[in-house]
Amino acid sequence: MGTITKGQAHFLLLKIHSLTGLVPIGVFLIIHLLINSLRTVGVLPYQWSIDVINNLPFLIWIEVFFIYIPLLFHSFMGFYIAWGGEKNLFRYPNPRNWMYTLQRVTGGVAFLFLAYHMGTTVAPKLWYGHHLFEAAPFLIDVMNQEFATWTGRIIYLVGILSVTFHFANGLWGFCVSWGIIVGPKAQRNASIVFMLFGGVLMVLGFATVLEFSLHPVNVEPTFKGTF
Ligand code: HEM
Repeated sequence: MGTITKGQAHFLLLKIHSLTGLVPIGVFLIIHLLINSLRTVGVLPYQWSIDVINNLPFLIWIEVFFIYIPLLFHSFMGFYIAWGGEKNLFRYPNPRNWMYTLQRVTGGVAFLFLAYHMGTTVAPKLWYGHHLFEAAPFLIDVMNQEFATWTGRIIYLVGILSVTFHFANGLWGFCVSWGIIVGPKAQRNASIVFMLFGGVLMVLGFATVLEFSLHPVNVEPTFKGTF
């Protein structure tokens, strides 16, 4: 039993970076886009889904440990890999090179989008103390305002496009680097499947933006008072 070397620690950090992109961040993204797309079904199912989430016990701790810490780790490690001394580590033969460049660019855009998105939703919700059943009317009002202007819509369309591409292409990279997909033919087929999957997620997000833009509806809290 020796101590862990610098190289091993580095390798471990890269593996954790790769894993956090899938679990919990990727899983969160799928659930998040699905839940938000409930808005296309109707405003009530959407409101109830926000009610369920905002009434979960220990919500803040679930968010801190399953969303914020993995997201911060994945983002900063991603910046380090992309712009630090790691440029040669993941060099793929052509034509994967340009996909890797796009992966870096969309990672940066996704980071900026998330800072904006959380700054306009979760941050004011916590700051103004809209908890439990007060959260849904507040957040739905925020989203209605976001999608009332072309600036807001474009920020979201670019954000969703970047995030879904980054996730789909990242899934491919994950499967290759963990030895799940081996061989050029399997890798080529897998990249098509993952891109289609990313496309489905993107459509879910775009449909939500369209619904909010076309039919902004304000809601009252589902339940007023205390239990
Ligand atoms: C149609 C597009 C989207 C809509 C309408 C939307 C809506 C929302 C809302 C209302 C919240 C606040 C939830 C709450 O505090 O209860 C939220 C939080 C959040 N969103 Fe989105 N979102 C969208 C796209 C995305 C995308 C593409 C990502 C990329 C990962 C994302 C990541 C997050 C994160 C990390 C949070 C904070 C999680 C939390 O604290 O619960 N969102 N979003």
